[in-house]
Amino acid sequence: MCGIVGYIGKRPAVPILMNGLKRLEYRGYDSAGLAVIQNETLWLTKRKGKIRGLERQISSLNIDGTPGIGHTRWATHGEPSKINAHPHTDCTGRIALVHNGIIENYRLLKKQLQAKGHVFQSETDTEVLVHLIEMFYKDDLGAAILKALQLVEGTFGILVISLYEPDRIFAARRGSPLVIGVGDGEMFLASDGAAIVEHTRNVIYMEDDEIVMISSEEIQARNLKDETVIKSVEELPFDLESIQKEGYAHYMLKEIREQPRTTLDSMRGRLLLEEGTAKLGGLQNVWDRLRKSRRLIITACGTSWHAALIGEYLIETLARIPVEVEYASEFRYRDPVLSENDTVMAISQSGETADTLAAIREARCKGVLALGLCNVVGSSIARETDAGVYLHAGPEIGVASTKAFTSQVVTLALIALALGRERFLSAEDGRSIARELKSIPEKILGILEHADYIRTIAEKFSHHHQALYLGRGFNYPVALEGALKMKEISYIHAEGYPAAEMKHGPIALIDKNMPVVIIAVRDGVYDKVISNIEEVKARGGWILAVVNQNDTLIRERADEIVEIPVTANCLTPILTVVPLQLLAYYTAVYKKCDVDQPRNLAKSVTVE
Ligand code: M6R
Repeated sequence: MCGIVGYIGKRPAVPILMNGLKRLEYRGYDSAGLAVIQNETLWLTKRKGKIRGLERQISSLNIDGTPGIGHTRWATHGEPSKINAHPHTDCTGRIALVHNGIIENYRLLKKQLQAKGHVFQSETDTEVLVHLIEMFYKDDLGAAILKALQLVEGTFGILVISLYEPDRIFAARRGSPLVIGVGDGEMFLASDGAAIVEHTRNVIYMEDDEIVMISSEEIQARNLKDETVIKSVEELPFDLESIQKEGYAHYMLKEIREQPRTTLDSMRGRLLLEEGTAKLGGLQNVWDRLRKSRRLIITACGTSWHAALIGEYLIETLARIPVEVEYASEFRYRDPVLSENDTVMAISQSGETADTLAAIREARCKGVLALGLCNVVGSSIARETDAGVYLHAGPEIGVASTKAFTSQVVTLALIALALGRERFLSAEDGRSIARELKSIPEKILGILEHADYIRTIAEKFSHHHQALYLGRGFNYPVALEGALKMKEISYIHAEGYPAAEMKHGPIALIDKNMPVVIIAVRDGVYDKVISNIEEVKARGGWILAVVNQNDTLIRERADEIVEIPVTANCLTPILTVVPLQLLAYYTAVYKKCDVDQPRNLAKSVTVE
């Protein structure tokens, strides 16, 4: 979604801002803009479309001023256009502002401001902020911003520069992340550390309802009650190398191929082979409460929701604790019935998904234990939960989530194993699962060796307009995930179904033009899945089956097969998903789609 960058220091701001905006491109956007203070004027440029266009537009200009702010916009209020792009300015053109989030009461505020004579240029909710600041400005910009924000309902991460106080940037946040990079006589700001990591790894994370005045040498933080806040410097948990493509054609391919390492990193130091259990440091303080929970509710969105469904199977199977899985967007608004013996767990790669964050807040309001499984260290969900576990998958840049998913399932397996061992699971069974978990990275490596073969299947797929994905038990959520990957990056309509549900409707779609992907590993429902394969074949459907090595029964029936190594039933999703990620990736490549930045999508969905 929207991205923010800011710079103040001795260097010209424009190259630093442009570079930062490029690093945020992966988040998805439709327009971009910059504002810089130069020779006592506020220089501003913005444009619809890609950053490349903006770069061309300013390449011949000699703008070397500082400070400056930049923004990539993902449209919510008003179409993608130059006028609606940020930065926005006040009536005098002396204040410029960029904003992430949504101002919910903007209509009322806009009417009041218009009645006072303020003239609006755009259709955005954001523009009210800069006019409010203008209205309140007397001789102290910080005070004016404070007063403006006190009137605002909704979420914001904002940067403000002004000719009134040209040697500083103001930043404020509520619900939209902002991080300050501390350099030597210079400061950087961004909505995501990726935009500034090449300049500094010393950062200050802003908290909700804080407003910060930043000069090139110092930072003064206050909260919206105008009380002083002391901030401390932390280290960004990744480096520049980890956010680069390193020779891969796309981030998505790099991230798929990283999975042997990232799944290992998720287990590192947590898996206890001898004892046949796991230890998760982040949960130790709440472990007793968690293990005594009468019910666990896992809430998430998108791919993380699919991981949650696998978590339900894992925790119920290994630990016999009842689990419910809820879309965060539903959970937050349906006044869920929760009791003090319940635990709510949010799963989120970014840790910033607005609905998941709101679901956690709802749970905490109701006094239940709230846990987070996040990848991004220091993210809002990680900070707002009572306890949690980091995935340690490293930065995920491709909009289509891949390595975060496998790390989520590994982490859920560790939690299920540890809970299970304290409840019903024998040491012997625990050791067997722990051994299987340990061998997962090596097995993923083996699957990745089939990439060229999967690419040939993808070519066939790329000529189709629809596909059906079927799976049962632990692999039903994998069917959902495989279908989601296919539709989001290749724009082929794909549906995931529990295989047995096919005959209750989707079977009507099956003919020779409908490719069907079936996950058919030798687990407790193998024979049933073979029957489902027969049903598809009988209707002329084309079948790609994901099977275990040396499977002969399905080889005879399917049109194509991809083999995966054998593992414990409950861990198969970590393997079966990998060929489906590759299939979606290569199909999108054949279709010449923008794999890493699919249309209309954003990496982290920070609005409802
Ligand atoms: O950052 P989160 O895990 O909370 O994100 C949730 C979804 O927005 C995300 O998984 C989305 O569905 C991805 N594009 C899937 O590839």
